Amino acid sequence: MSDMNVLVIGNGGREHALAWKIAQSPRVNEVIVAPGNAGTAAEAKCTNADVSADDIDGLLALAKDQGIDLTVVGPEAPLAQGVVDTFQAHGLRCFGPSKQAAQLEASKAFSKAFMQRHAIPTAAYQTITTVSDGMAFLDTIGLPAVIKADGLAAGKGVVIASTRERVQATLEDMLSGNAFGQAGHQVVMEECLDGEEASFIVIAAGDDVLPMATSQDHKRRDNHDLGPNTGGMGAYSPAPVITPALAEDIMTTVIRPTLAGLAAEGMPFVGFLYAGIMLTQAGPKVLEFNVRFGDPETQPIMMRLQSDLVDLIEAALDGELNTQNPTWDQRSALGVVMASAGYPGAYAKGHPILGLDQIDHAGVKVFHAGTGLSATGQTVTQGGRVLSVVALGEDVPTAHSRAHDAIARIQFEGAFYRTDIGHRAMPSAASGNDS
Ligand code: AMP
Ligand code: GLY
Repeated sequence: MSDMNVLVIGNGGREHALAWKIAQSPRVNEVIVAPGNAGTAAEAKCTNADVSADDIDGLLALAKDQGIDLTVVGPEAPLAQGVVDTFQAHGLRCFGPSKQAAQLEASKAFSKAFMQRHAIPTAAYQTITTVSDGMAFLDTIGLPAVIKADGLAAGKGVVIASTRERVQATLEDMLSGNAFGQAGHQVVMEECLDGEEASFIVIAAGDDVLPMATSQDHKRRDNHDLGPNTGGMGAYSPAPVITPALAEDIMTTVIRPTLAGLAAEGMPFVGFLYAGIMLTQAGPKVLEFNVRFGDPETQPIMMRLQSDLVDLIEAALDGELNTQNPTWDQRSALGVVMASAGYPGAYAKGHPILGLDQIDHAGVKVFHAGTGLSATGQTVTQGGRVLSVVALGEDVPTAHSRAHDAIARIQFEGAFYRTDIGHRAMPSAASGNDS
């Protein structure tokens, strides 16, 4: 029965968690991760293939060569390039949205216009191509103003400007194309929303949909949600702020109309759909859509998923999600990202990571993100977000303290991490100090 070969595309913590979980399926023979990292290289049933996540032709050749039965796409870049369309054109099963549907993440301008067409609650906005238009729109929305580069910018293309001068400087910078390269030719400017953020992730195919466990990310680099935005410094699941009633509200006002709208516009969505939500006084509003699983949310969510992920993905591809009723570990899972000094800006690579062999506790898992193997086989740093250390616990404070017990055993030069991941779900005494 273990006869499936699965390809996971990507090399981050999300992909390590997906590959780890997929490998646990009794139906799976082998998981190939392209290109993977030092964590996936060492994972049971997993093998890395040296093909980059945006080399669509290379991935297609790999899938054919290795007799891949199912491909799961981790990051947004290959989706935005049309990897699913290409695989399907060659008769290969590939889980993720088409290039057209991936615009929901790849273009903020597309995404905002789509939400407006389908009355999906989101911040008031305008697409801006000149500095003077931007300054005029500022008079409508007031300060602070949110300015977003249009294309994919790995969560780093968003500036919240609280003075007119900062708005002007940001517009000049982004519209000149300097700061974010190709992503910078037009920007989306929007009103600043106030509230608590949460990640709402579903698995979907057309209007068939199944919510995943709730979670909350921490986008700012530093404790107390200070410092620059990052791809995410830690996450936990479940997020108690998303009560069952609120989850139903988000399904009704955001997820179902989004799936219905995409289908009606001829681009039915298949894959993981992630709505970044701001829980405002006026109800949940969409900050952004991602057309893939969240990173680092995947890591705690996969720690809690007790059902077979391959069954869920295959049911989605076959339009049978209604037959699935996934079960979740009732405990909390909390993941803390260990990052390289300098991230989200420039950082050094190649520092040896020590202590990984000291972690063998039940309910603790170190997912690798930016790691690689040196010429001598040593695990070394290779990215900004290096590891995602996840622990299960009876409650959030217990999971938090277990994660930090593990972190204390791991060292690499320049390592830093937040000590307050999960603070919104913890009594203040347990929510950590400045590091
Ligand atoms: P995005 O890439 O659109 O999710 O933006 C990254 C982060 O910027 C979000 O997680 C929020 O913390 C913040 N952000 C984005 N849009 C807004 C907004 N309209 N109001 C307040 N904060 C925002
Ligand atoms: N955790 C944020 C993201 O995956 O975009």
